[in-house]
Amino acid sequence: MRRLKCKDLLSIAELSREDLIYLLETSKLFKSRYYAGERVINVLTGKSLAMIFQKPSTRTRVSFEVAMHELGGYALYLNWNDLQLGRGETIADTARVLSRYVDGIVARVLRHSDLVELAKHSSIPVINALSDLEHPCQTLADLLTIWEKKGKLEGIKIAFVGDGADNVLNSLLIASAKLGINISIATPVGYDPKGDILRIAESEAVRYGSVIEVVREPEEAVKGADVVYTDVWVSMGQESERAKRIADLSKYRVTVDLIKLAKDDVVFMHCLPAKRGEEVVDEVIDGRWSVVWDQAENRLHTQKAVLALLL
Ligand code: CP
Ligand code: NVA
Repeated sequence: MRRLKCKDLLSIAELSREDLIYLLETSKLFKSRYYAGERVINVLTGKSLAMIFQKPSTRTRVSFEVAMHELGGYALYLNWNDLQLGRGETIADTARVLSRYVDGIVARVLRHSDLVELAKHSSIPVINALSDLEHPCQTLADLLTIWEKKGKLEGIKIAFVGDGADNVLNSLLIASAKLGINISIATPVGYDPKGDILRIAESEAVRYGSVIEVVREPEEAVKGADVVYTDVWVSMGQESERAKRIADLSKYRVTVDLIKLAKDDVVFMHCLPAKRGEEVVDEVIDGRWSVVWDQAENRLHTQKAVLALLL
C-alpha cells in the first residue's frame, strides 16, 4: 500500500486520476476480503479518528465508525454543538488541538469554507463527510457500484435528474470527467451546476474524453443511459426553500415511465436518504433497476480504502 498524494480529501478534484483508480481498486480488495471472512484487517492499530458532525447522518457516520473499528483503529463521534466549537472556539484552534490527539478528522459541515479552514490548521488529514459543496466519499461508493454493476467505468453514461447544483452531483460530475464517464444532467433553469464546478469538470472532460451536457428535459438525459441517478430536491440546510424547490423540480421525478426510456439494463442510483414520492417513486427505488442498497454498503468498503491510504 502507498499513501495518496493529497493530505486531505475535501474535494474529489484533489485526487489525481491515478489515485482515484487506486482508491477504487483498494476498496475492491477490502470488499473481497470482507466477503472472504476477513472483516478485520488491522492496518490502523493504535490510530484514532475524530468525526465531527454539524448535520445528521446515518450512512456516513455508521460506515466510518465501523470502518475504523474493522481497520483496528478507534473512532470518536463528536457533535459540533457538543464541542467548544458550538460556544465559539475557533475552527483553527480546534484543528490545532485535535491534531495533538488523533490521526485524522472526518467532518460534515454546513459551509465548505469551514472544512477548508479546518484542514488549513490541521497537521493531520481532514476528510469531507459532506459539505454544501461536495460529497467525495459518496462518489467513491457510487463509482465502485457502477464498476461492479457494469464491469467498467469508461464510456458509461450517467443521467442525473434533479437539482443540478446538488453537492452529491458536484463530486460525481468531477470524478466522472476524470474517468471518461459521460454525464447528462437534466435540471430546470436556475439549478444549473455552479460555474466553478462545471469549469473543473469540463477541463478534466477534455483531457479524458468524457461528454458533459446540461439539458432541461429528463427524457432527453436518460436516453441511452446506463445509470439514472437522483438526489433529494431539498438538501440539509435548504429547508427554508422547500416549497419553491418542490415546485421547480416537480417535473424531474424518476418514475417508471422515465427510467424505461433508458437502456434496458439501466441501474437506478441514489445516495440516500430518499424522499420517496418526491425525486423518486417507490416502484423505481424498490424495483428491478435499483442498486441503492449495494451502493450504501459500498460506503463501508470505500471509506476503509480512504482511511487506510490517508491515515
Ligand atoms: N448518503 C449519505 O451521506 O447518507 P447520510 O446522510 O445518512 O450519511
Ligand atoms: N444532497 C443531500 C445529500 C445527503 C446525503 C444533502 O446535502 O442533504
